[in-house]
Amino acid sequence: MTFPETIQVHSDPQQLLDVFFSKRQYTQVMVLVDSNTAGNCYKVIRNFLPAHGVIEVPAGEANKTLETAAVVWEKLTLANLDRHSMLLILGGGVLGDLGGFCASTYKRGIDFVLMPTTLLSQVDASIGGKLGIDFMGLKNHIGVFREPAATLICPLFLRTLPQRELRSGFAEIIKHCIISDSEKWQHIRTRGYLEQDWELLIRHSVAFKTAVVAKDPVEKGLRKILNFGHTIGHALETCSLQTPDRLFHGEAIAAGMIAECFISRELSLMSAGEEHDVKTYLRQIYGSVKTPQLSEFMPVIRQDKKNSGVKILMALPERIGSARWDVEVSEELVGEALRSLDAKY
Ligand SMILES: NC(=O)c1ccc[n+]([C@@H]2O[C@H](COP(=O)([O-])OP(=O)(O)OC[C@H]3O[C@@H](n4cnc5c(N)ncnc54)[C@H](O)[C@@H]3O)[C@@H](O)[C@H]2O)c1
Ligand SMILES: [Zn+2]
Repeated sequence: MTFPETIQVHSDPQQLLDVFFSKRQYTQVMVLVDSNTAGNCYKVIRNFLPAHGVIEVPAGEANKTLETAAVVWEKLTLANLDRHSMLLILGGGVLGDLGGFCASTYKRGIDFVLMPTTLLSQVDASIGGKLGIDFMGLKNHIGVFREPAATLICPLFLRTLPQRELRSGFAEIIKHCIISDSEKWQHIRTRGYLEQDWELLIRHSVAFKTAVVAKDPVEKGLRKILNFGHTIGHALETCSLQTPDRLFHGEAIAAGMIAECFISRELSLMSAGEEHDVKTYLRQIYGSVKTPQLSEFMPVIRQDKKNSGVKILMALPERIGSARWDVEVSEELVGEALRSLDAKY
């Protein structure tokens, strides 16, 4: 399990920072935190940093906006950061996407370092160079591809992460195992999400995602396998936003994986036994979700960015441990898969 030297995983944050700053010289260092990582995570690293300033923005997806980006650009400007300065981003996927976007555009781009503090950002969002903000209600609508100077991953930050956030991030790890590594899948499914070895699993996910991204940086082919669970999952997440039972991303993706394994089995890509194993484990960890009406759900599915023209295209596992992408799926089968989420088993 290898990945590029710019990505480091270590249980000691001081070690990560010492090694990084011993190799790099910057005129100024600015740390970006959100209102939660300011209290929970900054104190863990502040004494291991060179002289620096701090920018704090409000936490949450609702703040992944142009307005927040403008605040960050303004503060970088007022602090006179030049092109040889760097921004260290200490937070989850929202902050990484937003902060990375701000750094990539400030003076045509300064170095930034991601120090992801949620499980989801450690195994997914901080890998692959996608940066951006939401705009006009559209997620990640404005953005760029750019790699950080380094990604420093420390599982220690997970200690303060709320359990529901931890469980949500775990769904991406499960996804990586199902589409790439049947042995690892057998390993994780013997225990609950609170008994996992995070450092081991983070290394596994990072190695897998970096290998996929290296082969297909701008998602023309192979990278699409990472969308397993996300066609149906995203639509469930979107529909849940209108209800009092808002789903976290990973909870929606877990239900999406169950429904997409149903489709995979219907298309004879996966066996009934494998589908049953995935469903049983995911239900055990995530419970079941309230499903929307088909009339509300299908229009959302049809808008999915992964589709081509009128066809619904999905990434599906073909037996556990491998996957294929751009599999065409009929609307009828999508409807059946959604109904299967309600069925008792
Ligand atoms: N760039 C990509 O490739 C990519 C991939 C997947 C997701 N994303 C993006 O990631 C975002 C979701 O990321 P997320 O789930 O990390 O959400 P997040 O950044 O909103 O973090 C979740 C919550 O946990 C808090 N938090 C973070 N670290 C903490 C810690 N150690 N202790 C206590 N609280 C902490 C945050 O303040 C926030 O309230 C979405 O905007 C999504 O679009 C990007
Ligand atoms: Zn996801």
